[in-house]
Amino acid sequence: MRIRKATKSDKKPILDFCQSPYSGVDYIANVWDFWLKDGAFLAMEHKGKPIGVCHASFSKNQVWIEGLRINPRFRQKGYGRSLVLRAEQIAKRKHHKISRMIISNSNKKSIRLAKSLGYIIEDKWYLYNLKPRKRQSRIVLSSNPKQIENLADSTYSKSWKWFTIDKFSITKLIKKKNTCFYKKQENFGSWDLE
Ligand SMILES: CC(C)(COP(=O)(O)OP(=O)(O)OC[C@H]1O[C@@H](n2cnc3c(N)ncnc32)[C@H](O)[C@@H]1OP(=O)(O)O)[C@@H](O)C(=O)NCCC(=O)NCCS
Repeated sequence: MRIRKATKSDKKPILDFCQSPYSGVDYIANVWDFWLKDGAFLAMEHKGKPIGVCHASFSKNQVWIEGLRINPRFRQKGYGRSLVLRAEQIAKRKHHKISRMIISNSNKKSIRLAKSLGYIIEDKWYLYNLKPRKRQSRIVLSSNPKQIENLADSTYSKSWKWFTIDKFSITKLIKKKNTCFYKKQENFGSWDLE
């Protein structure tokens, strides 16, 4: 095992096992190329193959740790912890004294990891909406934007920003990938089927 800089060619093997714990489509696919140029993008390598990644971005006195992903076959062996510690080490060398990360309240493993490394909860965030309540449930599998335009009243997330789903964004998402939209009562999700 060794930690090295992540590369362009690590993207596919990492994304192959990545599924976002929050929405299905992992946002790191969208930021990968940017992360290669920004801050420290670290990869954990096993027998020449990447089995995990972690990105650290630096701002005044702070390192922001994000995109920690370990291949399920290699979890609970201390590799996630090692990547975070390496990012902290780089930050220390740069004289950045604060380390921060954001974790979903449902991601118990990651919360335990953070706690075990001494992190404390600084703040909590909630995503609010105000919209008409609907009682019916619908599931639409589609590769044609026309079929799902009537779902346009919710949000989708991209790189940790939430956007309104409208006809334009649905069309864009559908044209970009094979996308599956699922709507049941108040829940909305989108998945890349490729
Ligand atoms: C979260 C994740 C990165 C942990 O990686 P890992 O290599 O398995 O973690 P480590 O082996 O370094 O474990 C470090 C600590 O994390 C916690 N932890 C890790 N896996 C756990 C599990 N399955 N259950 C409970 N706690 C767990 C423990 O506190 C552990 O310390 P301990 O073994 O001394 O108890 C990994 O599960 C993962 O990639 N998950 C999906 C992506 C994700 O959620 N990323 C984080 C987004 S914020």
